[in-house]
Amino acid sequence: MFAARSLFHGTILISLLSCSSPVVENDTDQDGARPTYTMDHHSHSRPNEAVITHLDLDVEVDMDEEEVRGTATYDIQAEDTRSIVLDTDGLFIDEVTDANGAPLEFELGDSTFLGRALKVMLPTPTKRVRIAYHTGKGAKALQWLAPQQTADKQHPFLFTQGQAILTRSWIPVQDSPGIRFTYNAKVKVPAGLMAVMSATNPQQHAVDGVYRFKQEQPIPAYLIALAVGDLAFKSVDERTGVYAERSVVEKAAWEFADMGTMLKTAEGLYGPYRWSRYDVIVLPPSFPFGGMENPCLTFATPTILAGDRSLTALVAHELAHSWSGNLVTNATWNDFWLNEGFTVYFESRISEAIHGPDYAGMLQQLGRQDLLNTLVDIARSKHPEDSKLRLDLEGRNPDDGMTEVAYEKGAAFLRLLEAEVGRPKFDAFIRDYFDRFAFQSMTTDKFLGHLQEHLLTPNHVVIDVAQWVDGVGLPSNAPTPISDRFDKVDHEIQRWVEGVPARELATSGWSTFEWMHFLRHLPQPLTEARMDELDAAFAFTRSGNAEVLAAWFEQCIRNDHDAAYARLDDFLNTVGRRKFLVPLYTAMLDTEKGRIMARTIYGTARPNYHSVAVHTIDELLAWKDTHPPVNF
Ligand code: BES
Ligand code: ZN
Repeated sequence: MFAARSLFHGTILISLLSCSSPVVENDTDQDGARPTYTMDHHSHSRPNEAVITHLDLDVEVDMDEEEVRGTATYDIQAEDTRSIVLDTDGLFIDEVTDANGAPLEFELGDSTFLGRALKVMLPTPTKRVRIAYHTGKGAKALQWLAPQQTADKQHPFLFTQGQAILTRSWIPVQDSPGIRFTYNAKVKVPAGLMAVMSATNPQQHAVDGVYRFKQEQPIPAYLIALAVGDLAFKSVDERTGVYAERSVVEKAAWEFADMGTMLKTAEGLYGPYRWSRYDVIVLPPSFPFGGMENPCLTFATPTILAGDRSLTALVAHELAHSWSGNLVTNATWNDFWLNEGFTVYFESRISEAIHGPDYAGMLQQLGRQDLLNTLVDIARSKHPEDSKLRLDLEGRNPDDGMTEVAYEKGAAFLRLLEAEVGRPKFDAFIRDYFDRFAFQSMTTDKFLGHLQEHLLTPNHVVIDVAQWVDGVGLPSNAPTPISDRFDKVDHEIQRWVEGVPARELATSGWSTFEWMHFLRHLPQPLTEARMDELDAAFAFTRSGNAEVLAAWFEQCIRNDHDAAYARLDDFLNTVGRRKFLVPLYTAMLDTEKGRIMARTIYGTARPNYHSVAVHTIDELLAWKDTHPPVNF
């Protein structure tokens, strides 16, 4: 919802290689038995010929060698075909056999930005295939952390990030959001560490370091996730709880005390939660996202532990994905807005139900500010068409198209639909949509057909859907979010401009959102004396709230307030959340002094970031790494 997803776009280096591989849309054929799939340009797999239906993963996590090794055994459903194709990226394939251990021939295709296709020959109809493999150095999904990079500084840590096309870098798999399968996993980790996954999870350490997992609902590959560390668990209520390092877990449980209420609120809106438990793991600060909706277990950044429960909308967002995204899934990354636009809409409904319309209104306004900034950037970029809801990412890294547009323009479209038919009818429509298409994938076309038939036509609503979905920019009938709380902030800014000292401004009772709005709307430029005055009055540089701190640092960079630079350096060396990194490094690029500072800080911070953040910031700073990770 906040700042800098807006700045993700346009920062990714794209291989020119385009790929003509099949895949996706899950649609059942006439008798309803076999799904058919439409094309996914970001996977090599050919699910209409042979598709995986279940994965048995048996791996050992070697924290010293920074390697995952073991076997992935698949149940497959094959038509009249003699091969199955999976995705890999930087994996070493050691052996491929059938269920009886008989070797199967395989070949690896050329390496592109999509990785390498793994084609396994099936000489006779084969129902099960086993692949023995190990990961390479620099596997893109994995971030291996030294003890020093964790909160407790005693043990190493590992986490994975699958979305969008990174799971193939640690498991050979048909890595397309339109292909769903169940999984079981056996994961061996060093004694003393604990493993958790996007599945049923342990709540205690296993003495032998062996953990077993089950994900009984069919999910796409991007939702397979693993974290390993010296974790502790604390329950919040009977269905929810938190995992974190020992020194963090109490704080996290306090911060997320509302999780059970959020879950019940979400169910009240759109029907039963279908994933048994809902837990959150708070990861070390290098986690590149705010949150990731891994089923049963949201992965989250510790930068939402503000100490005052003010940043928990992120939990509402990731929880909402249990319906929008994990239950009804974008069929390809071109349909990403179906995941994120619905989720932002849903998140806002949860926030409104729990905290009231004022609170939700502030979040919506911050989201709209982000969207408008993003739209300006996109209009000036090489890809002005990225401001459409329906994307065309063929030949590009899908990460490139994942901007604020999917989130905020997507949510605005749904708010418009709600305004047209009224909330009761819209809620019934959404709830039915989740039920009807549960555990299936959805293309934009299929959604639009369903929308027309089940909402627009019956309610005699005429709107220009094509302009919203296939047009650039934000249509003029987008509903405007309202919040008089921000009007009050604007008023205080005006008073400061007119000479009222900062410490006399009426800021008492302001939430994080009001402070963010304040910091985003300060007059420019600001003198050293004015920056000092603000910091003396509000102690921004010492703030423990990462959102406030990041918004303040942006002002410090723009106004060369060097009193904050030591703290900025420390922040950028510790926090790897891309939404904070992008605006801060971008702001530094505006001046020569800033450019030098950006390169100096990045030189030391880069090894602390996950590959997706490294990829983005390398591009932003035109960084040439002299020691690239060896993948093959
Ligand atoms: N699924 C996304 C994270 C993501 C998007 C990972 C694209 C990889 C590619 C997650 O649900 C998300 O949107 N996280 C936001 C926070 C949220 C409150 C908007 C983030 O990380 O900033
Ligand atoms: Zn999301």
